[in-house]
Amino acid sequence: MRCAFARSQDPADPLAGLTVGELDPEAPAGWVAVTVRAASLNHHDLWSLRGVGLPADRLPMILGTDAAGVLDDGTEVVVHAVIPSEGWYGEETLDPRRTLLSERYPGTLAERVWVPARNVVAKDPALSWAEAACLPTAYLTAYRMLFDAAGLRPGQTVLVQGAGGGVATAAILLGRAAGLRVWCTSRTEARRARALELGAHDAFETGARLPEQVDAVMETVGEATWSHSLRSLRPGGTVAVAGATSGAMPPADLSRVFFRSLRVAGTTMGTREQLVAVQQMLVATGVRPVVDSVVPLDGVRGALARMADGDVTGKIVVEPGI
Ligand SMILES: NC(=O)c1ccc[n+]([C@@H]2O[C@H](COP(=O)([O-])OP(=O)(O)OC[C@H]3O[C@@H](n4cnc5c(N)ncnc54)[C@H](OP(=O)(O)O)[C@@H]3O)[C@@H](O)[C@H]2O)c1
Repeated sequence: MRCAFARSQDPADPLAGLTVGELDPEAPAGWVAVTVRAASLNHHDLWSLRGVGLPADRLPMILGTDAAGVLDDGTEVVVHAVIPSEGWYGEETLDPRRTLLSERYPGTLAERVWVPARNVVAKDPALSWAEAACLPTAYLTAYRMLFDAAGLRPGQTVLVQGAGGGVATAAILLGRAAGLRVWCTSRTEARRARALELGAHDAFETGARLPEQVDAVMETVGEATWSHSLRSLRPGGTVAVAGATSGAMPPADLSRVFFRSLRVAGTTMGTREQLVAVQQMLVATGVRPVVDSVVPLDGVRGALARMADGDVTGKIVVEPGI
């Protein structure tokens, strides 16, 4: 089948190892097949091509963690990308041996993908294929950061770092819909303006001093914004961290963390129940994911190049059928 896969890895030139071509992986016994109608790109795909989180001995590996599609019996589904290990019965995100699609098992940037039967949820017809394909990674992660890791409540103020990103735009939309005061930062004037259109109450240059300190910060940028995130929190506030695009080893600033009773809450993806909940939230509020563009499988290279350049607002969707 046609798919986009990592053939080799290069930390400096991730696109060098990308191939769009034919690969026919073996379907794990007992898993269900999903014919992919739409998948979406994530920074995760670039990490895999750089050799982060995907051991070289698992190559070639089909990329992609997000998909919406159709089971062989015609049921329309959204794929849950967190695959627990054999025999794990607790929360799947806390399984130390869990993997995401494309880390051990073939990913979603393909005509077909296979998952355990528990790893699909019914797709709500209110969402388009492209919109539904944005949910399993970026929207699930943002939902969990806001309402679980940071425990935000209506009326509180949240700062979203790096407003243009897939997770960040999700956090802006979901935070606004949940009655939060939403502030964000971005490196570019255009993405700050777009964030305001999406519902952010205010948008600041990266690193700018805020009018007041906030209840929580949504952090996926990492080194470039970490010290600003800690400085921006009120005493007792929480930084929910799910990513480190610009680097993962910033100064910890521990004295600020303990003197001001800050909480650092790490989180990855979310549970199947939270995937159902974020879809319900979109349906109930009328909020829809921000789709930057829709491309065919042959467009994956150009789309990932844009993502590597930080030149995307929202999600790039891949539709294998176009
Ligand atoms: N733990 C999890 O479950 C999970 C889930 C999803 C994503 N992630 C991680 O979260 C991060 C964001 O993912 P994504 O898919 O939303 O990525 P993305 O769409 O590529 O967004 C990255 C954003 O980071 C911002 N940024 C600010 N300063 C930057 C700098 N110096 N270098 C690079 N980027 C900078 C950019 O915002 P501006 O241009 O607006 O400033 C950019 O839009 C990635 O590292 C990803 O691996 C983790």
